[in-house]
Amino acid sequence: MRSILKEKNLNNKKILLRLDLNVPLENGKIIDTTRIDKILPTLNYLIQQKSKIIILSHVGRPKGEILKELSLKPICIYLRKKLNAGVKLITKNIYKINSKDFFKIFDEQILILENIRFYAEEEKNDHKFAKHIANLGDIFVNDAFSCSHRAHASIQQIPKFLPSFSGLQLDLEVNALNKIITQITKPITCVIGGSKISTKINIIKNFIPKFDNIIIVGGMANNFIEYFGNNIGKSIKEKNCNHIVEEIISLSNKEGCKIFYPEDVIVSKELNGNSQKKKLEHILSDEMILDIGPKTINKIKIIINNSKTILWNGPAGYCENPNFANGSIEIAKKIIESNKANKIFSVVGGGDTVSLLNRLNVIGNFNFVSTAGGAFLEYLEGKKLPGITALD
Ligand code: 3PG
Repeated sequence: MRSILKEKNLNNKKILLRLDLNVPLENGKIIDTTRIDKILPTLNYLIQQKSKIIILSHVGRPKGEILKELSLKPICIYLRKKLNAGVKLITKNIYKINSKDFFKIFDEQILILENIRFYAEEEKNDHKFAKHIANLGDIFVNDAFSCSHRAHASIQQIPKFLPSFSGLQLDLEVNALNKIITQITKPITCVIGGSKISTKINIIKNFIPKFDNIIIVGGMANNFIEYFGNNIGKSIKEKNCNHIVEEIISLSNKEGCKIFYPEDVIVSKELNGNSQKKKLEHILSDEMILDIGPKTINKIKIIINNSKTILWNGPAGYCENPNFANGSIEIAKKIIESNKANKIFSVVGGGDTVSLLNRLNVIGNFNFVSTAGGAFLEYLEGKKLPGITALD
């Protein structure tokens, strides 16, 4: 994988830039601009190099249909405000675009092609479609780590036709994750949450031989709490997962990795109810576990304190209700404290965790915050991502 920073001659070159501008939209308004803000350095770099930029991106899952509500128009308007350069959205059908019109009739420095998923060929990974798009540019840059796990035409096929490079954000993302999975400074700890243990089992199995501590929180910790003989009331849990818990425990014993799960919890009878501290053995049948308790928080803080590297994916509780956000907030605070003291290298990822940190306005206090969802998890599982392999 070669970074665009290594390419000397970008002056006047037409750069096909694959970005992930898949941001949440509501009635044409962008709800969270993090993903766009993160790729501004790449755009500014290409502007400085006097390149001509053609942006490719998807928003949502239109499945080959043109849907007005999934237009890139609001994103184009936002980019125009943020960059000191002309930005134009090209809504013309890709097959009808004449590449000679680019930067002549459409003379802005940055052109954005309309939602690439308006064409069914994109998700079908269509070779001819990719070739047609590749003909519009001189160089391809992938700065869309968060969709590099998709074997789609604009991600996997275009690099077959053009000199191809990684963008600045993709470089940062891959370097930070490699630091976690290959260049580890020990002791290394992972705090992992989420509702379904089956979706995280491969990551946990990949981590056990490398990590010193794995702290299981969130809904999937309920499977552990119940497995060890406690009543979890009406808490969420994934069914038939005892074999997964057993697999994790047996592998961790073999590899000498310590697995932690909550020792005390915060419960309520309702999602919008009040919180109550509980020991595991006192949970009632009409209660549900919605956060970790104070004893667990203290234990996690001690583990973080003794760690040199930390990866956090998945909140500790039902953070949408502030009554159950305390565990996650305390984890965030402790990592930030260690970070500020230069005692730890910290990487955070996953939609729910990132949106909590956004709400707390503390995103800048971690070494790296990944905006990727599925791609982040697949990379940590040790899978090869099609978009990255295509650049190799
Ligand atoms: C994401 O939001 O994770 C990426 O944009 C990929 O989107 P997808 O899951 O619709 O492929």
